[in-house]
Order: sequence, then structure tokens, then C-alpha cells
Amino acid sequence: MIKKFASCVGKYKIFAFLTPLLVICEVVLEVRIPYLMSQIIDIGVANKDVGFITRYGLFMVLLAIISLITGALGAFTASKAATGFAKGVRQKLFHKIQDFSFANVDKFSTSSLITRLTTDVTNVQHSFMMIIRMMARAPFMLISAVIMAITINKRLTTVFLVALPILGVCLAIVACMSYPRFGKMLKRFDKLNSIIQENLIGIRVVKAFVREDHESEKFRKAAEDVRQAQIHAEKVIIWNMPIMQFIMYGCMIAIFWFGGNMIIVGQMKTGQLISFISYVSQILMSLMMISMFFINIVISRASIQRITEVFDEVPDISDENATETEVASGGILFNNVHFEYIKGKEVLKDINFEIKSGETVGILGGTGSSKTSLVQLIPRLYDATNGEVMVGGKNVKDYKINALRQSVAMVLQNNVLFSGTIMENLRWGNPDADEEQIISACKDAQAHDFITSFPEGYSTMLGQGGVNLSGGQKQRLCIARALLKKPKIIILDDSTSAVDTATDKKIRTALNKSLKDTTTIIIAQRISSVIDADKIIVMDNGKIDQIGTHDELLLSNEIYKEVYESQQKGADENGEA
Ligand SMILES: Nc1ncnc2c1ncn2[C@@H]1O[C@H](COP(=O)(O)OP(=O)(O)OP(=O)(O)O)[C@@H](O)[C@H]1O
Ligand SMILES: [Mg+2]
Repeated sequence: MIKKFASCVGKYKIFAFLTPLLVICEVVLEVRIPYLMSQIIDIGVANKDVGFITRYGLFMVLLAIISLITGALGAFTASKAATGFAKGVRQKLFHKIQDFSFANVDKFSTSSLITRLTTDVTNVQHSFMMIIRMMARAPFMLISAVIMAITINKRLTTVFLVALPILGVCLAIVACMSYPRFGKMLKRFDKLNSIIQENLIGIRVVKAFVREDHESEKFRKAAEDVRQAQIHAEKVIIWNMPIMQFIMYGCMIAIFWFGGNMIIVGQMKTGQLISFISYVSQILMSLMMISMFFINIVISRASIQRITEVFDEVPDISDENATETEVASGGILFNNVHFEYIKGKEVLKDINFEIKSGETVGILGGTGSSKTSLVQLIPRLYDATNGEVMVGGKNVKDYKINALRQSVAMVLQNNVLFSGTIMENLRWGNPDADEEQIISACKDAQAHDFITSFPEGYSTMLGQGGVNLSGGQKQRLCIARALLKKPKIIILDDSTSAVDTATDKKIRTALNKSLKDTTTIIIAQRISSVIDADKIIVMDNGKIDQIGTHDELLLSNEIYKEVYESQQKGADENGEA
């Protein structure tokens, strides 16, 4: 695990190494100062030697200044290293998430991944900074101050021997109790983030259904949950400081008591007691740092664990053993395919069919009948649980994923556009496409006219997710973007649902013409969208009900007939009106 995190420091390694060195310099100088002070009191003041006092005084000031400078430099290099480290962890996480399949993302949930990338990384960053500064400073200071204290007076040092174990036990209890509480708090953060995310993505729906109050209440509850979990955890942590201080002042009192008595009987000098007290505070200060360090580790252990989970997640779709880099044709074959999202809940059962390269196939079926699930197996967005999915005569698992997905363009049911110009969004399909190709694809997708009707045409800026487009316009842009890939297979998952019937027909005619050799799969609710297809697959509840042409199905398939008649009736009624 340490190795995994250490690799994130990257080029900031030099700062991570410099920090402890600078900190040690600072501590060496700092520990020297109380000793000089005791010399000034016990020799300079006692002998009224002004020369000695000035010399030692100036030397003390010089040490203090150098110690200040090294301290400041140490803080600077520590922040450099820690921020660099955080950037490294975020990059590594983000990179890892890019390799996730849909199933991997489903497992973590988007909001949890966001918390892991933000809050959790910040927690780990703090700990990292603590490690490189405090881990050098605290033990080093502790040891040097103890040595100095022992050289001044051995007997007085026994006071610590009593105090240290008590302190250790108390801090261990605090750390053990707070760990699970912080874990719980972070889970509640996930929930809060998920509510914020859902609300912001669906803000239009929220407004349309006048659900603002309900959403606010939901948010209030989640925020309250976070607050409570935080208090629950902090309640334990706050004991850290009082315990520390109680023991520190207890030690001071004991040392003044015993030290005072020693001065009275002449076993110790005043200057020695004063510097001894300085060392005591240095020792206790370093203990405090160590305890703060442990608390911090406790808080971030939960975060470290959550980040490690992402690092360790094995992308369940990988192409490590795949060798094929070229999809030969657009032929598709499903052989006894079964599929489940959640173990034991099959959504596709025993699917068998063949599509020849260049054919146009329609898929029809009620909502939830697993049409989307079926086609998602073709570009390997998910893997079949059982059976084989073949593309171009080879199992999809034999292809390098990039090669497969480059050949299979899928217009997803709820597709997204990104902020940027229309042109930039279209180039997602093919970064090297020239203007002519782009315009031709847009013409096929019936998008060219509306794009050129915008004052800025293809340079029109799209807001986040393409907010400034209508539903049908967005769908047509997504189709154009897919066409630019010049794919061997194109899958349109309900991609013209928001487009009027006439435009829908125009798109199909254009696709027929320009994608003669491309296998086209059209999932649709309207029979009119699939009526001309070479064959139509009728899905029912995760199974293929029947495969046939429009005419065949009309004769022999109950589901198809029913859908056809209801749509015919609707069309007639509309016609009469
Ligand atoms: N990511 C997922 N995790 C778990 N179950 C899922 C997931 N996506 C879909 N399902 C389930 O799989 C089944 C089939 O869903 P699918 O999206 O394939 O249907 P569909 O035919 O495309 O429906 P629609 O016409 O509404 O788009 C549904 O019962 C749904 O609840
Ligand atoms: Mg669907």
C-alpha cells in the first residue's frame, strides 16, 4: 500500500526528502537554546559577567534566526511535496477510474467516487504533510530533549517515566475509539454528495415537479446526518488535548516541586531548573505532536482505505490477453448469451441470433425488456455472464477494447454532450475529421440545418451536458458524432425518440444511403422506425420472443401485432383530428 502511495509523489520526491532534513536542522538548533540560557543564568548572571552574557546572548539570537529560517523552508518544502502528492493521488485515481467498466462504476456509485477524489485525498494530503514534518521533528526533538534533560539532572527525569505510560494508554484508547466513527462519517459524506449530485443533474425535473421543498428537506436530513456523525467522532478526538495538557501541567508541577527542593539543598542551580523546564515543554510538545499525528492518521486511515479500494479494484473488463486490433466486418452473433447486473438476477436469458454484416436490424420490446442490456454487450460495455458475443467472426473478448469500440458506435439512450463548441463535441467521434466530413455527417443526422440556424453555427458553445439544445437536437448531434467514427456497426438506442416521425424517416433514409455496408441496429418504440429493417427482434422480459421481418411478425407475433395496432390506431386518430 505504501508503495502505491509513494509512487504518487513523483517529481516532488526531492521536496519530500528535503523536508525532514530541514526539520532536523531546525530541531538541533532549537534544542541548543535552553542550554545556552542556563549557561547565561548560572555563569554570566551569577558572575555578573556582561561580556559573557552578550556573547552567549548574541549566539542564542543567531541560532534562533537560523532555526526560524530552516523551519520556514521546511514548511515550504513540506507543502510543495504534499500538494504534489495529492495531485499525484488524484491523477492516479482518475486514471484508474477511466479503466473502470460500467459495472465497476455501478459498484462504487459516482458520488462516492467524487468524495474519494476530493475529501479523501485532502485528508490523506494532510497526513502526508504531517508524516514528512512531524515524523522527523517529534521523535528527534523528543530524543534530543530527553538527552539534554538527563545531562542536566538524571533524578528529575524519572518524573517522565511515570507520565509517559499513562499518556500512551490514554491516546491509544482515543485512537481506537475514533477510527470507526470517522469511517461512518465519510460514508455519510458519500450520501450527501450523492444527493447534491442527483439534485443538480436533475434540477429541471425537480422544478418541473415542484419538488424543491422535498429536495431541501432531503438535503437537510443528509447534512444533519453528517453533522451528527462528525460530532460523534469529534467527541472522542477532543479528549486528546485536555489529556495531553493535564499530564503536561502535572509534570511541570512535579518538576517545580522536586527541582525547587533540590535548589534549596544545593543539588541544582536556578538556571538548570529553568532550562530543564524548557526541555520538559519541548518533550511534551513533541509528545503532543506525536499524538496529533496519530489522530490524523486515524482520521485519514478511513480515507486511505477508501482510496486503496479504488486502486485495488480490478476493472472487470480488460483486454490484456486480447490480440485482435482490427474488426473484420460488422457481423454479429449471439450464442447462448446470458447476462445479469446483480448476481442471481438474470436480465438476459439464452439469447441466440445472427446479424449479417451490413444488415439493418430493429429491436422492439416493452420498457424494461432488456433491449439496452442486450446491445451493451456488443461494444463490451458489460460482459456477458455466460455464452459468447461475436463481432466480425471473433469473440468480443479477443479484441483490444479500443479497436472494438472504434468499430462499434453506440448512441446511448441517455447520451451526453460535453461543455465546449458543437464542433469540439462532434470531433469526439473522430478527432481528425475535416469540415466536409463533419458537415456530411450532420446532414445525414438531420442536424446541419438547425446548427447553421444558430448565429455562431458550428462554433456555438454548448453548456454543461448540452443544456442549450432541445432533446431532439441533442439526439441528432449524438447521432452525427457516432457517424463520424465511420463505424462497422452503429447502434441507435432509442436515439430518435425525441425527433418527429418525418425527421426520423429522413435520418433513416440518409443512413441507408451513406452507411450501406454498416450494420445498423435500431432500438425503437415506434414500429415506423423499424418497419424497413431486414429483420426485427422482438424482446419480451429478457428473452427473444421472435425474430422476423415486419410482414412475418405482423402475421405471427402477438406482441408485435398488438403494438402495431395500437400505434396504427393512434396514427389514424391523429389523422382524423
Ligand atoms: N446498471 C444496472 N444495474 C442493475 N440493473 C439494471 C441496470 N440497468 C438495467 N437494469 C435492469 O435490467 C432490466 C433491463 O433493463 P434495460 O435498460 O435493458 O431495459 P430496456 O429494454 O432498454 O428498457 P427501456 O425501453 O425502458 O430503455 C431492467 O429490469 C432494469 O431494472
Ligand atoms: Mg433501454
